Amino acid sequence: HRHLLGIEGLHPHEILGLLDRAEEAVEVSRQISKRRLVLQGRTQINLFFENSTRTQSSFELAGKRLGADVMNMAVSQSSVKKGETLIDTAATLNAMHPDLLVVRHHAAGAVHLLARKVGCSVVNAGDGPHEHPTQALLDALTIRRHKGKIARLTVAICGDIAHSRVARSNIILLNALGARVRVVAPTTLLPSGIAKMGVEVFTSMKEGLEGADIVMMLRLQRERMNGAFIPSVREYYRYYGLDAEKLAYAKEDALVMHPGPMNRGVEIDASIADGAQSLIREQVEMGVAVRMAVLEALAANLPNN
Ligand code: CP
Repeated sequence: HRHLLGIEGLHPHEILGLLDRAEEAVEVSRQISKRRLVLQGRTQINLFFENSTRTQSSFELAGKRLGADVMNMAVSQSSVKKGETLIDTAATLNAMHPDLLVVRHHAAGAVHLLARKVGCSVVNAGDGPHEHPTQALLDALTIRRHKGKIARLTVAICGDIAHSRVARSNIILLNALGARVRVVAPTTLLPSGIAKMGVEVFTSMKEGLEGADIVMMLRLQRERMNGAFIPSVREYYRYYGLDAEKLAYAKEDALVMHPGPMNRGVEIDASIADGAQSLIREQVEMGVAVRMAVLEALAANLPNN
């Protein structure tokens, strides 16, 4: 592939290939002295139209670990603020001959549109509520390192499913690798047609978490709700916030995940986020290795290689 725009369309063996490559990159991702310079002489531009802590910084570190010249485009200080469109911005950057463009945008499909307009490889770092492929890959890598497999695990994805690109990419990936995927949310936060994605749907945390190997919590994405349905925090926490009582419904050795950013006391209790069953910090760590694997895989298909 020339681009990574989503998990959708990837064959299971391609997903497993990226996970194996990421596993190999874990040690290198921790130690700059061991870096592999497959992107030496290459230019990577990170173009983030939405805020990010984890994704942008780990793509920057991943590119640098591989020897790329990495530029972070400061969108808030750019001519986007003067009304320049996504396509004109991309065409402007394209004229500087980058090899890789890592893009986050608030509109679903924006990254696909952009990929058709530029000459370089494009990586989707999150497009609206549509996909966040590298998040799903780093989640799968984290799960596999702890459970040794993905197939036949029961994974409960809980919370704001309707607005979550993380949920979508994870559902597609986990199904492709043979996991049993559940979603748990109030009906107002379930997208229409969710059952067609091959998941079991629950509105009760008790029923949805029963027997789960992995409990994946999601943030309430108020910025995508347009004032439509914004539940009260207290009520939401009471019924859907992951605390010790609700986590006890899952398997005894269940592991807790969250893509971040977390809202403690809204979708997850602080004691669970920081507790022995939490993989949240490891997810962040795996982010660098997974992004190295993705950039490395795309590097093999860059022109003049
Ligand atoms: N999980 C995630 O995408 O985090 P950021 O928004 O901080 O990049």
